[in-house]
Amino acid sequence: MPKPALVVTTHFADEIEVRLDRDYHARRNAQGKPLTRDELIHASAGAAALFVTPFDRLDSEFFKQVSPSVKVIATYSVGVDHIDLQAAASRNIAIANTPGINADATAEIAMLLMLGASRRAYEGQEMVRTGTWTVSSLLGWQLAGKVLGILGMGRVGQAVARRAKGFGMSVHYFNPTRLPAELEEGAVFHSSTSDLLRVSQFLSLHAPETPLTHHFINSKTIDLLPNGAILINTARGGIVVDEDLIAALKSGRIAAAGLDVFEGEPNLHPGYLPLKNTFLLPHLGSATVETRLAMATLALDNIDAVLAGKPAPSLVTKDPVVA
Ligand code: DGY
Repeated sequence: MPKPALVVTTHFADEIEVRLDRDYHARRNAQGKPLTRDELIHASAGAAALFVTPFDRLDSEFFKQVSPSVKVIATYSVGVDHIDLQAAASRNIAIANTPGINADATAEIAMLLMLGASRRAYEGQEMVRTGTWTVSSLLGWQLAGKVLGILGMGRVGQAVARRAKGFGMSVHYFNPTRLPAELEEGAVFHSSTSDLLRVSQFLSLHAPETPLTHHFINSKTIDLLPNGAILINTARGGIVVDEDLIAALKSGRIAAAGLDVFEGEPNLHPGYLPLKNTFLLPHLGSATVETRLAMATLALDNIDAVLAGKPAPSLVTKDPVVA
C-alpha cells in the first residue's frame, strides 16, 4: 500500500525526519519561510494530513479550499489560535495539538525574559559588544521581593510560579477558576484581572489567545499596573496592543518588557526595535531539543492514530470519521 502523503511545513530533529520518511510520503516545505495560504492549499492536494506550525495561518478561506483528502492537521504547538477550529470541524478535519509538554521550556524562557528585561541585558550586551562599556553601570530592578502577577495559571503559569518563588518573588494570579491549594502552592488568587494587574510589579502572560484575551493588554489595562511595571509575554503576541505597549515603554509607564511572541510574527511592530528597554526573542518558548522532540513525536502519534482510525492522544476537535 502506498504511504499516505503528509505535508510538512518545518524541519525536525533527525529521528523525526527518519520517522516521517519511514511512514509517509513527506512533502516538505523547501523554502526557508512559511508557506502562503495558496501554497499550503496547493500542497494539500491528495495529502492525507498536514503537519503545521503556528506560522501557518489556517483561516476559514484555507478550510474552504483545502483538499478533501485531508483528514487530520497536527500543529507543532499547544496554541491553536492560528487555526479556525470551527471551519476545520465543518470540513470534518481533525485538529491535533501538543498539550502538556512545553511548560518547563516556556517557563525557563519566561524567567530569561524577566531577568533580561529587568536587568537590562540588551543594553549590557550592546555595551560589551560595541566597546562602549564605561564605568557607569546599568541599574536594573531585582526580582527578589517583587510581586509577580501571572495571568493564566495553567501548566506554564504554574511552572513559572515555582521558578519565581525560587527568585524570592511573591506570586499572585488570575485564572478563570481558582486552583486547588496543592497546585496553588501559596500563590494569591485574584478573581478579577483588574485586581491582579493593580498589584503586579511584574506581569507575565500565560493565557491562550482567544476572542476574550485578544488585545487584553492595552492602554486601559496598562494604566492599572503599578508605575514602572515590567511586562513579560511568552503566550501570544495578539494579547497585546503593540502601539499601546510601545507608548508605555517610551514614557516609562512600563519600565521594560520581555517579549518572546509578537502579533503577526515573524514580523513584529517596528516600534519595538529602537527601544532599549525591551528584551526580545524570536518565539523560543518551546525551543529546546527535549521539548521539540516530544512535541513532534506527539504530533506524529496523533496523525498516525487518526489515519488508522484509532483514538488519538490529543485532538482539539472530535475524531472525524476516517474514510
Ligand atoms: C506552543 O506550543 O503553542 C508554542 O508557543 C509553540 O512554540
